[in-house]
Amino acid sequence: MRRRPVVAGNWKMYGSRAANASLVAGVLSGLAPRALRNVEVVVCPPFVYAAELSPQLQSANVGLGAQDVCAEAVQGAFTGEVAATMLREVGCSHVIIGHSERRALYAETDELVGRKTLSALAVGLTPIICVGELWEERDSGRTYEVLGHQLSAVLQTLDSDPAGLAGLDRCILAYEPVWAIGTGRTATPGQAQDVHAFIRGLISSRDAKIAQSVRVLYGGSVKPSNARELFEMSDVDGGLIGGASLKAEDFVAIVAAAELGSERTSCC
Ligand code: 13P
Repeated sequence: MRRRPVVAGNWKMYGSRAANASLVAGVLSGLAPRALRNVEVVVCPPFVYAAELSPQLQSANVGLGAQDVCAEAVQGAFTGEVAATMLREVGCSHVIIGHSERRALYAETDELVGRKTLSALAVGLTPIICVGELWEERDSGRTYEVLGHQLSAVLQTLDSDPAGLAGLDRCILAYEPVWAIGTGRTATPGQAQDVHAFIRGLISSRDAKIAQSVRVLYGGSVKPSNARELFEMSDVDGGLIGGASLKAEDFVAIVAAAELGSERTSCC
C-alpha cells in the first residue's frame, strides 16, 4: 500500500520571532508545490509562536504542530498546561506526544502518553506518538521489549475509548531511538526498517488494515545526506526532524528526499 510520507520539523525549545520568520520564509520559498502535494509537511514550533505562524503555514498547505498537549480533556486549574482545544483554536493540526525528552526530563509515563493521545484525538488533532529505546536497552537486546511496552500502553488506552482502536488510524507514529537523537549517530536504514516492521507487525496483530495505513516516521539525526536511504525503506514513511529542521535548506532537502522515496514506492 502506498502511504503519503510525512516530514515534521520539531523545533524543540529553539527560536525567536526574527529567527522563526526567516526560517519559515526559507522553508516556504524552498518547497516545490509538487513536493507539498506528495509529502505532508509539518512544522512544530514552541507553543507561544504557533498562533502567529499559523496563517502563513496554512496558506502554504504546511501543517502546524505543537510539541506537547495537556492530557486533561476539560479546561481547568492546570497551571502551565495547554489544552488540545486551545491548540486547535490557534490553528494546530498535529501534536507531538511522548517525545523521549518529555519522557526522560519530565517523567512522562506510558499511561500519560496514552491519555494525551485521547485528548488530542477528541478535538481532531493528529497525534505524532514517539517511541524509542535507550542505547543500554538496545545493547542488551531489549529494543523490541521496550518498544512493545510503549506501544501497547497506547493501544490499551485507545481500547478504553468508545472509538476503540479506530483512533490509531488518525495517529502518526515516530520511532526515535534515544541514542540517535541529537547525537549525529543515525540508525542504519536496516535498523530503522527492522523496528518499523516490528511496530507494524505489532499493530497488525490487532488490526491488519490500520497496520497497513498508519504512517511510521523515523527520527534521530536525520540529515539531507542520510534521509533518502532511510526513506527508501519500505516501512519508513518519512521523518521527525530535530536539528536539521532549524536550517531551511536542510529541511527542504529532507522533504525532497521523502518525495523521491514516495515516487519510488508508487512506481514499483
Ligand atoms: P535530531 O534530528 O536533532 O536528532 O532530533 C530528533 C528529534 O528528537 C525529533 O523529534
